[in-house]
Amino acid sequence: MHAQKMPIQRYSRIAMILHWLIAVLIALNVALIWSVNLIPEDNIRFVIDAHKSFGITVLGLVLMRLLWRAANRPPDLPETYPPAERTAAHGAHLALYVLMIGLPLSGWMHDSAWKAAGEIPMYLFGLFQWPRIGWIMSIEPAFKERLHDIFGGIHVWLSYALYALVTLHIAAALKHQFWDGHPELQRMWPGGDAPAPSPLSPAQRPPA
Ligand code: HEM
Repeated sequence: MHAQKMPIQRYSRIAMILHWLIAVLIALNVALIWSVNLIPEDNIRFVIDAHKSFGITVLGLVLMRLLWRAANRPPDLPETYPPAERTAAHGAHLALYVLMIGLPLSGWMHDSAWKAAGEIPMYLFGLFQWPRIGWIMSIEPAFKERLHDIFGGIHVWLSYALYALVTLHIAAALKHQFWDGHPELQRMWPGGDAPAPSPLSPAQRPPA
């Protein structure tokens, strides 16, 4: 059977919403922090605070997405994908989850080890105080300063890994869509065909 005639196995609506919301917020958060070197000194504090708020929001949304995924199995990859590509896709998705949790968590740890964290509280979008990580704040100051640098370094390196993996993720989706001719983007795009029943009974299968 030709790949294009296969019914499209689509993600659930909630999974799609979470996927695109998280993608947009991560892109926005990277753009925000990159803008720090371009904006006037007076606005830097505001931008960094916004960066922290968006990052914590991403962490919450990724945890929700994992819970949703645990309760709602995502559609299988198309059977026509070669085994090596299936393994690579699963590995890349797992690594993306690790990064989407590790990045905001390392940022939060970095911020909790900041020497001024005790005097300058963090507010989530200026609405309410967001807790710092208590055990990190209570570390002895000289060691905490070292940890501040270490967590900051981890945060930066994880961001490099994220750039690489997101690039790979987009390239792989575009390759499947346009090179291999699979309706890949439709799996994660709202609208279009109704989700295909899975698995198909022989009577339901379209002719080859
Ligand atoms: C989606 C989640 C996040 C992403 C993608 C992200 C990404 C980044 C990137 C790319 C940088 C700049 C690295 C560089 O210098 O090249 C950065 C810096 C930073 N991030 Fe995050 N981050 C996230 C979440 C957080 C969170 C949750 C916090 C704290 C609660 C945080 C605190 C910081 C701080 C304090 C800096 C250094 C800012 C400065 O002093 O220039 N980040 N982040």
